Amino acid sequence: MKVSLRVNGATHEVDVTPTQTLLSVLRDQLGLTGTKYGCGEGQCGACTVLIDGLPVRSCQARASLVQDKSVSTIESLESNGRLHPLQEAFLKHEAMQCGYCTPGMIMAGVGLLASTADLTDEAIVKAMDRNVCRCGTYPRIVAAIKEAAHARA
Ligand code: FES
Ligand code: FES
Repeated sequence: MKVSLRVNGATHEVDVTPTQTLLSVLRDQLGLTGTKYGCGEGQCGACTVLIDGLPVRSCQARASLVQDKSVSTIESLESNGRLHPLQEAFLKHEAMQCGYCTPGMIMAGVGLLASTADLTDEAIVKAMDRNVCRCGTYPRIVAAIKEAAHARA
């Protein structure tokens, strides 16, 4: 079936199967490989993108069901050669090792920054709790999100 997807501000007409995931379309048909395949079961958060501004696990979202919604991937964050403040904060705090979880962490963090005004350590940990980092960089991820939260104030 043909569906029309709005991804990072551009509209794409793509052929999908009824059960095909958004993650598969992003990576395999649109070449947006910044979004990562981790568990494929909704457990790790590596595949997190924003749909209408909210963090969603793209391995669990059927592409055919996100028509008419706005999808944002990690590739959308850079603007005119400048990284998003949260990307800058991740670099400053070295909040990654292998980097595999990082796009999902950053997209979840961007969604959190947009939706929550008062970000305490506890609120950050609670919101990010379901995003897994096998390298264990959690304290640095929390520090990076706190820094980006302060920078936006
Ligand atoms: S790959 Fe989607 S949650 Fe793990
Ligand atoms: S930096 Fe390696 S999984 Fe998070």
